Order: sequence, then structure tokens, then C-alpha cells
Amino acid sequence: MDLLKIGHRGAKGHLAENTLESIQKALNFGVDAIEIDVHRCKTGELVVIHDFTLDRNTNGSGEVAKKSLAEIKALKVENAFKVPQLTEVLDFIQGKCTINIELKGLNTATATAEIIKKYIAEKNWNYKDFIVSSFQKNELFQMRQLDENIALGILSKASVAEAIELGKLLKASAIHPSLGIITRDNVKASHKAGFKVNVWTVNELKDIQRMREFGVDGIISDFPDRLF
Ligand code: G3P
Ligand code: CA
Repeated sequence: MDLLKIGHRGAKGHLAENTLESIQKALNFGVDAIEIDVHRCKTGELVVIHDFTLDRNTNGSGEVAKKSLAEIKALKVENAFKVPQLTEVLDFIQGKCTINIELKGLNTATATAEIIKKYIAEKNWNYKDFIVSSFQKNELFQMRQLDENIALGILSKASVAEAIELGKLLKASAIHPSLGIITRDNVKASHKAGFKVNVWTVNELKDIQRMREFGVDGIISDFPDRLF
């Protein structure tokens, strides 16, 4: 099986992260998948932004969870771009690649599960087009309870062994370890336990080569063009 080439927050190394423009850039490179982060805003919609607050990369400030969709939509990301909703990202991609939705914020599982079900039932998306990942155990358990078919990825920057145990409980498809904790042996152990391994965030060519040699299944990179 070929390496799954995954653009991190779109193509974060080239254009403002988690924006439609960054996603388009990643699509132009021919990625197999795009990773994005979601939070739930005050009015209930899922918005695509990494941080819990607006301060770092928008002209706003304060917590995403305490702002309405209208307030977030009025902001600019890096002076030029907009914060998209998850539904806008899905409509934009239209099944051209797989989407890896990271449940970054709290209380994101229910709304995400509803959207995934709707897009599969009504908009020609398939289960194979989605991977839902998270560091948040509660969100992962809730997602599994709401949808027994969705592919789950267990994010970890601490321990692959723990991620494997959690993955078994959750009937996950993949372990998503950080580059810092991955070894040839724990890639093997993940495979032996039946999980794929998608590693993040791998930007340097020497690391990309090393991950290929370790036999990982997917690489999440800010520079997805370097994966080709
Ligand atoms: O999903 C992989 C990676 O994005 C997790 O870390 O902080 O970049 O969201 P972070
Ligand atoms: Ca992420």
C-alpha cells in the first residue's frame, strides 16, 4: 500500500493554516488526505481552527467556544483569510480526498457525527473518506458511541503503547503518534495490533525518509509536496 500523504491543517507550511486556500494548495499538490482541527463555537457550529483562542492567528481575541459563528466569520486569519466551518470544508473538498477531522475542542463529537452522517446520507461522501482523530478520550468515546463505523485515529505525543491500548477499547483504525515518540519497533507493534500508523508533523526530508523506512502508513506534513 502506498504512503498516505496528508496535508497538515491544509498545507500549513505554504498558506494560512486551516483555511480553504491552504486546503486548495494541498489539493493542488495531489494529497490523499487533509487534516484539519475543529472547535464548537457558542452558537453550536463547528469551526475549523487550531487553537482554543482566537488570538494567535486571527485579528480577534478570546475563546472560540464563547463566540458566535457570526463573530468568528467577521474575523480575518493572517489578515486575509476566513475561518471556515467544517461543512464549508467538506463542500469545498467534495470527496476529492480523505478528510482527517481532529476533534480539538470540547463537545465536538456530537456535531461532527451528525455532519458525517448527513454527508454520507445526502452528499455522496463515504465512510472511507473520513478519519476522526483526537487527543481527547471523551470525544473519541462519544464518537464511537454515536457511530460504530467511523474510522478513529488515536492521537498521542506521550506513548504509542498507551495509544494502542486505547485504540483497542475504541475499535480504532489507526494510531496517530507524534514524530518524537515513534520508533521502528512501535510501528511494528501497532501493525501487529491491527492499527495503521499516521505520524505527525513530519516536515524534514530526512525524517520523511526515516518514516518511510519505518513502514508508517501515512505522514501528516505542513509541506505535503515533500511527500511526493
Ligand atoms: O493531527 C495531527 C496533529 O495536527 C496534532 O497536533 O497540535 O498540530 O493539532 P496539532
Ligand atoms: Ca491537528
